[in-house]
Amino acid sequence: MNNIPAIAGGTPVRDKKLYYGHQYIDDKDINAVVEVLKSDYLTCGPKIEEVEKKLCQITDAKHACLISNGTAALHVALQAIGVGEGDEIITTPLTFAASANCGLYCGAKVVFADVNEETYNIDPASVKEKITDKTKAVVAVDFTGQAVELDELLSICHEKGIKLVEDGAHSIGTKYKGRKVGSIADVTTFSFHPVKTVTCGEGGAIMTNDDEIAKRLYLYRSHGITREADLMVREPDGPWYYEQIGLGMNYRMTDMQAALLGSQLDKLEIFSKRRSQIVKIYDEAFSKVDGLIVQKEIAESDTTRHLYILRLDLNKLKCTRREFFDAMNAENICCNVHYIPVYRHPYYEQLGYNKGLCPVAEKIYEGIMSLPLYYSLTDEDVNDVIEAVKKLVDYYHV
Ligand SMILES: Cc1ncc(COP(=O)(O)O)c(C=O)c1O
Repeated sequence: MNNIPAIAGGTPVRDKKLYYGHQYIDDKDINAVVEVLKSDYLTCGPKIEEVEKKLCQITDAKHACLISNGTAALHVALQAIGVGEGDEIITTPLTFAASANCGLYCGAKVVFADVNEETYNIDPASVKEKITDKTKAVVAVDFTGQAVELDELLSICHEKGIKLVEDGAHSIGTKYKGRKVGSIADVTTFSFHPVKTVTCGEGGAIMTNDDEIAKRLYLYRSHGITREADLMVREPDGPWYYEQIGLGMNYRMTDMQAALLGSQLDKLEIFSKRRSQIVKIYDEAFSKVDGLIVQKEIAESDTTRHLYILRLDLNKLKCTRREFFDAMNAENICCNVHYIPVYRHPYYEQLGYNKGLCPVAEKIYEGIMSLPLYYSLTDEDVNDVIEAVKKLVDYYHV
């Protein structure tokens, strides 16, 4: 092992760059898409319903609504539970902007609750404090894939007549107390962006066990238009007849994407297993390193991890997160940072949100970066990451 960091003139741990995320596409995936391209339907065809059924089987949820992406999933989920002008939603700041933006799309005010210092997930006690008469929904993000404290959040929400929307963009494959994410909250959303555990390029899904909510999901996914006779206001005047009974968008997924997703879902278990193996190796390597903090996993969550967060204990290191990040890059390990607390973005600042609103989330943000985590990482890749991290901790340790 060479001990001098590349950034200080040493040799990098590897020659080829390693990125923090990458999709895994095999011939079965490619053939599934090609089959659709040769078929009669490129969109609104049979693949959508077929894969919706598959998602229900995988998650044990009653209904699945495939949709164009995870952001659209959140928007439609909130529309379907009736979030609108004058309402408030509560979410975490340690997330991608979409978890909060969905509230703004509906005309609601976004309220941020702080996170747990050890798990980085939304803190139920903070949620409780932020609830007002206007709160309509809590959008709880399974950050990195770890399930939020669902039982506690559900009881806090339901006691007040509030819906729990689980933003499961990171957590397909995760179980909570043995039950599958997708079948537990009032509504759960998934994202199938390429860095996620399964992908179809761009894509999302909304899961619910509630029949009434489900009807509205399908409606708002496609303009607010229905062809279901029992939802129509008027008598159809012919077989062509359809009605717009609400205001929705075109958030439909194509059949090519659905076919890719269906094929990827067949690999969810092996993807999940490999991700868990890598997380275990990282955890074992980092848990006893002075200067690093390992994300705590609650016993209730059997997690399919989407992200691995390396957290620096900046009191123990004579470097900034930026310096450590750049030094990792010089070792050819390209990290990322998830996430800038949402309300620290200029757009949210001009809406009146200020620094200091969620001190725990802000403190966590200062020391974090995401290490490579994906199915096709080899053991050698994982060892390179560990070697680079340990080399830099040794170098920067006070
Ligand atoms: C927590 C979270 N919610 C929502 C989304 C939005 O998903 P999409 O990119 O599919 O729109 C993302 C995407 O990265 C996310 O990480």
